[in-house]
Amino acid sequence: MTPEPQTPDPAKRSNPAAKTPKAVKVLVRNLTKSFGSLLVLDNLNFVVYAGELLCLVGPTGCGKTTFLNCLTGFLPLTAGEILVDGQKASFKKGDLGFVFQESSTIPWLTVYDNVAFGLKIKKTPPEVIKERVERILTVVGLNPFKDLYPRELSASLDQRVALAREFATQPNLLLMDEPYGQLDIKLRYYLEDELRRIQEREGTTVAFVTHNIEEAVYLADRILVLTQKPATIKEEVIVTLPRPRRFDDPSFVAIRDQVTAAIQWW
Ligand SMILES: Nc1ncnc2c1ncn2[C@@H]1O[C@H](COP(=O)(O)OP(=O)(O)OP(=O)(O)O)[C@@H](O)[C@H]1O
Ligand SMILES: [Mg+2]
Repeated sequence: MTPEPQTPDPAKRSNPAAKTPKAVKVLVRNLTKSFGSLLVLDNLNFVVYAGELLCLVGPTGCGKTTFLNCLTGFLPLTAGEILVDGQKASFKKGDLGFVFQESSTIPWLTVYDNVAFGLKIKKTPPEVIKERVERILTVVGLNPFKDLYPRELSASLDQRVALAREFATQPNLLLMDEPYGQLDIKLRYYLEDELRRIQEREGTTVAFVTHNIEEAVYLADRILVLTQKPATIKEEVIVTLPRPRRFDDPSFVAIRDQVTAAIQWW
């Protein structure tokens, strides 16, 4: 017998995130970004709460990467402001981590040295670097590859190195731009769980961009659905399903369908 689909009711579900007060980590106010005459982000207003995993989903080319680049301070804003911990966002502050779609490993460093790289930049004591790098290499299953160079790795292993490097630095705000898009499905599931575990343990705030609606419902505390560009926020979906989440849970399927309906770009 097929179980009856349930309407997800946030009030009726346990929400571990709701037990902690909702401090604001990132405040986005009237954010507008144009490239010349091309308006990409159109007066966005939202917050990212401290310790939450926020997923941003939206059609190709709507401005998701542009938003992350504004958040890091790499791109100047056309109007509005982005505050991180009450201050103007800047990549120079050093407690931001990024994982991009493209490979960002350093070709002339071994896997071990790639993972240690961010910690060395931060002038972390050598004994702490050793302990953290060894721990994270084990966690993400990279130990057997630690002496190899990126050119000797598959695309998915290479991406795992980039992830390990960010996890090792323990950023308090982690920006992820389709980080798992190139990975095989088993590794993607594994690293989605790993991201949650590390995020909960370290209290990291994560802004995670993805095209993959199932991935968003699996990972997110909250999902923001963006429109085609010029991007505005079409819908906010709070996901309070208990963890570990199951793809075949009728409530999971109902939320996935809700997000899909909000997007409707195919
Ligand atoms: N530096 C730039 N100069 C001019 N136009 C740009 C620049 N960067 C992005 N754009 C344009 O802004 C729009 C949004 O691009 P962006 O890469 O942010 O989209 P996206 O949502 O990340 O897309 P995808 O899902 O394909 O990754 C696109 O039309 C793109 O061509
Ligand atoms: Mg993008």
